[in-house]
Amino acid sequence: MNKSIEVNSSQSHYQCNVGQDIFTEEVHRILDRAQSSNCFILIDENVERLHGDLISQSFDEADLETYMMTVPQGEASKSVSFWNSCVNFLLENGVRRNSPVFVIGGGVTGDVGGFAAATALRGVPLIHVPTTILSMVDSSVGGKTGVNHSVGKNLIGAFYQPEAVIADISFLKTLPRNEWTNGLSEILKYGAIRQSTIFDQAEIFLSEDIRQIDEQKLIDLISESIQIKADIVQEDEFEGGIRAYLNFGHTFAHALEKSCDYKKISHGEAVYLGMLAAIELSRNLGAQITADPILKYRSLYRYRVSKEELSLNDLMDHMKFDKKRTNEHIRFVLLKEWQHPFLEEVQSAKAIRQAWSYALDNL
Ligand SMILES: NC(=O)c1ccc[n+]([C@@H]2O[C@H](COP(=O)([O-])OP(=O)(O)OC[C@H]3O[C@@H](n4cnc5c(N)ncnc54)[C@H](O)[C@@H]3O)[C@@H](O)[C@H]2O)c1
Repeated sequence: MNKSIEVNSSQSHYQCNVGQDIFTEEVHRILDRAQSSNCFILIDENVERLHGDLISQSFDEADLETYMMTVPQGEASKSVSFWNSCVNFLLENGVRRNSPVFVIGGGVTGDVGGFAAATALRGVPLIHVPTTILSMVDSSVGGKTGVNHSVGKNLIGAFYQPEAVIADISFLKTLPRNEWTNGLSEILKYGAIRQSTIFDQAEIFLSEDIRQIDEQKLIDLISESIQIKADIVQEDEFEGGIRAYLNFGHTFAHALEKSCDYKKISHGEAVYLGMLAAIELSRNLGAQITADPILKYRSLYRYRVSKEELSLNDLMDHMKFDKKRTNEHIRFVLLKEWQHPFLEEVQSAKAIRQAWSYALDNL
């Protein structure tokens, strides 16, 4: 059964529809409503290669001018220069205030394409079509769009809500195995900060062949994850308070990504280790928890970097430049107990180092 989650924000109300083989119908529904003579597609290059026929056909059936631009895969596309190319593509092809812009791909395409939609003509209708687990459960919901800067990731951007999100699990059939585990990290994060049942539901990821996963269970897990994210961002749209809990494990993760020059470790792999470090730091501050609900999934992560290749001093240094650092000390999302997160400026470098050691022992 398909699911629909409503997200309310100060800018708009929108539906995230989750299901199987829903793409064409959803596109037609949106185009009918838009009453526009043209529409735009920004699409990840791999998704175009693997699903381009179905996508083109869905738009061909609708009688309007369609313009499509490919987004090269990889984090490098989240740059000011590529954002500029996207805006040029929209403006030079006559985008209007009511022209729908479909952004089809993972979080990279969603972030840069979403930022282009947010800024062209000061905002045109954005429709997220997430095609990775991570982008379905996380990046397509909540309105964060943007690109990277040499000083750090995601430092340029805007809060801009989509008009709709279409999460069609049929796209996931072609998703590489490691991208499933990347998305799993964000799902486990929801288990840690909000809803313990997620830990059990996520067991479908432990199945031998990920592509044979029970479709209904997958739809349920994705829609529950979206609901958790929606609940949090609705309560705190611009990250003044509890939205920061979504960064559980991320202060450590960003330092790891930076230490590996964003190459030898993916965001999701880094978040997994980051959560282990955050759990250890929480324990150091008195939480009576074990990491077992997260460690159960350790075998799914195949790291390409070893403990010996990482320097604890570098990792500590990189943490200092994380965006979430306040004036004095590094601010962490920690757990009092499972599903009870809190924010803490940790002063003890020794405790942070100990947390790193624990996490890196699991590499
Ligand atoms: N805006 C937010 O709130 C938010 C939240 C979390 C993460 N992010 C951002 O999201 C990005 C990571 O997103 P991601 O993990 O989706 O990575 P991604 O967009 O790089 O996609 C991962 C890989 O999967 C490929 N791919 C995508 N869909 C596919 C499919 N259906 N079949 C086969 N291959 C497919 C892509 O070409 C790419 O190689 C990061 O830049 C991160 O900063 C943003």
